[in-house]
Amino acid sequence: ELKAVIFDLDGVITDTAEYHFIAWKQLAEELGIAIDRAFNEQLKGISRMESLERILVHGGKADAYTPEEKEEMAQRKNEHYVSLLERLKPEDTYPGIRELLLELQREGIPAVIASASKNAPQILRALELTELFSYVVPPDSVKRGKPAPDLFLRGAEEIGVGPEACIGVEDAQAGIEAIKAAGMIAVGIGEEAALTASGADVVLPDTTGLTLRFLRELRA
Ligand code: G6P
Ligand code: MG
Repeated sequence: ELKAVIFDLDGVITDTAEYHFIAWKQLAEELGIAIDRAFNEQLKGISRMESLERILVHGGKADAYTPEEKEEMAQRKNEHYVSLLERLKPEDTYPGIRELLLELQREGIPAVIASASKNAPQILRALELTELFSYVVPPDSVKRGKPAPDLFLRGAEEIGVGPEACIGVEDAQAGIEAIKAAGMIAVGIGEEAALTASGADVVLPDTTGLTLRFLRELRA
């Protein structure tokens, strides 16, 4: 029986995965590193600092900067990203998401956010979705990021529901791995082949098919 749905944020609730890509691409260009969408798949779900490290390794510059310089770069990326967030409005919520959250609320099934992003509360406010979530896991409250299960397990624990009664929803390969490591059913949003390879139980091309009826059948 379905007792909770634990959502990733960027790329599941709204298109902010694209904003992260734009902001990283700009920073990478400033460093003389080219990144494309295929490489970006490896950054999805990954923390700010770890993403920067991956970009530097990708560009052959893993040892080129001091920790202080890396801090400054990560901050520069975040400032650009936050400036892109200023345009976010409730209408930017992905199709069907608000309806699903309202259905879950009506049925008394908690919805939780398990995102690595420190900007999650601001994004939920901009989309006017804050009160539709029972809990937003603070990314700093867990030791390990995705693909480790910690963020999803912390979310389930907070609302007092066992992983076996949860469904996780993710657009990132690392996120699908995290959901499966947590012992939950994993719904992928996006490209079927990659997300299935990461262990997704089912993959939808976008959020339009993500209804309470669909989720309940998965956990029947
Ligand atoms: C999510 C996104 C990543 C992002 C991370 C940290 O996991 O998928 O692309 O790097 O959050 O986000 P933040 O907003 O804290 O930099
Ligand atoms: Mg995501």
